[in-house]
Amino acid sequence: MQVQFKNEPIERVAADAIVVGILEGTKRPSGAARAVDAAAGGVIAACLAGGDFSGRREQVAVLYPKGRARAKRILLVGLGAEKELTADRVRQAGGRAVGKARELGISEIASVLHGAGKGGLDPAVAAQALVEGSVLANYSYDRYRTRDKSQRKPVRTLVVVETDAARLADAKRGGQRGKVIGEAVCFVRDLCNTPSLDMTPRNVAERALTLAAEDAGITVTALDENEIAKHRMGSFLGVAKGSDEPPRFLVLEYKPEGKPKGTIALVGKGITFDSGGISLKPAEGMEKMKYDMSGAAAVLGVFHALRKVRPPVRVIGLAPMTENMPGGHSIKPGDVLTAMNGMTIEVNNTDAEGRLVLADGIAYARRFYRPDAIIDVATLTGAVVIALGSHASGLMGNDADLVNAVREAGDRSGERVWELPTWPEYTELLKSDVADMKNSAGREAGTIAGAMFLASFAEGTPWVHLDIAGTAWNDKDKPYAPKGSSGVGVRLLLDLLENWEGKNGKPRARG
Ligand code: BES
Ligand code: MN
Ligand code: ZN
Repeated sequence: MQVQFKNEPIERVAADAIVVGILEGTKRPSGAARAVDAAAGGVIAACLAGGDFSGRREQVAVLYPKGRARAKRILLVGLGAEKELTADRVRQAGGRAVGKARELGISEIASVLHGAGKGGLDPAVAAQALVEGSVLANYSYDRYRTRDKSQRKPVRTLVVVETDAARLADAKRGGQRGKVIGEAVCFVRDLCNTPSLDMTPRNVAERALTLAAEDAGITVTALDENEIAKHRMGSFLGVAKGSDEPPRFLVLEYKPEGKPKGTIALVGKGITFDSGGISLKPAEGMEKMKYDMSGAAAVLGVFHALRKVRPPVRVIGLAPMTENMPGGHSIKPGDVLTAMNGMTIEVNNTDAEGRLVLADGIAYARRFYRPDAIIDVATLTGAVVIALGSHASGLMGNDADLVNAVREAGDRSGERVWELPTWPEYTELLKSDVADMKNSAGREAGTIAGAMFLASFAEGTPWVHLDIAGTAWNDKDKPYAPKGSSGVGVRLLLDLLENWEGKNGKPRARG
């Protein structure tokens, strides 16, 4: 989608449709809506007065202007209640407008900067949200469709309209960020929507290598099975043993121009297909397990954006990529693996494989980079889907400052998180009779148990774990996310990196 910024009154813009936001409970058009209404022969006022449109946030209406307005259509989008008008409401409104435009087969829309007027949002924040929502709603995955491709064609151009020059400059800055981030999220969605047949660890490595850019200070390396073995990543290799597809361990690095404010390691779970291994999953719904690489994809998505968004920190991205398959070479329940840091693990359930690959990812981060913080992102447990559903990712960690910084990044970016405890008592769940630890605790506190396992690899490094099993995939369409991979993680992580305030090596949340 092309995004343009125009210094022109919205009512004078010629486009297939102009988009106007309406706050809930609006009886008479005001602000931009009023100007449009005056130019369009009162069609908005009539629609509101007739009670057809109240501004509830799920509403979209198509109106046809009369009079001197130059646009072919007006799209009214509900913004919801004024006191709830957050950046994410703007993102949703942008998404709904694009969704409607696609339904109508429209190729160019012009939009008011929702929320920046009466809503009181910063114009840059509002523009970023508007463009993100629009780019994200414009996504569809049809790599494998040979017919019907033309239904719901994407919108070609979005014009953001603002008459105040200073605000327009801010909007441009925010909007350009929104475009970069939105496209990075779509990149993640493509990775996770692609079936495992065509998205093997080697395929992912290829995609990752395309992200390297010298001028942007980004390097990418893919370690093969021999190099992984040399590093003694026995836990990761244990999972990979069951598959005929060779594993890859991806290492990405971004360096800012000046002296970095810190080094942050992002570790993503990269299971390109999770069959459960010998502890085989039931057949029902197993096809979805292609999205078990969503954590790794989010890490790659961050680097996709880092080519243009340039935070003042050094970022290390690590992605252990493998399938989890049953086979003659698979590890079996009861086997004991030795991770890179020497820790021994009794594998009592081969379906708890995510923590096994992340264990070596986290150990690798500490060994080679001594980061100020480690953030792992993983579709780790079915239990978090039960606990939080699809509106929040699970957040756990060993450092209150870092946990708070991540929570705030989640709130700002609209990728919300909810904290679960990691009290020392929970480590008892993972006591093994034969090794230092077992990998599965059974049904009790499943999400926390996964975090406790990872915590013992983070050891003294400030660390946060994001369980995205419930947020990385949508079973139903959402305002700016069609069914399928959501691409969650990129927005939160970038926000965190950009607002990083390393103080004595300690992460601090910014107000
Ligand atoms: N990839 C799954 C978790 C998952 C479940 C992601 C549903 C998305 C949707 C993970 O590898 C897994 O199988 N976890 C087990 C852990 C258990 C064996 C301790 C689970 O949650 O059942
Ligand atoms: Mn599993
Ligand atoms: Zn898994």
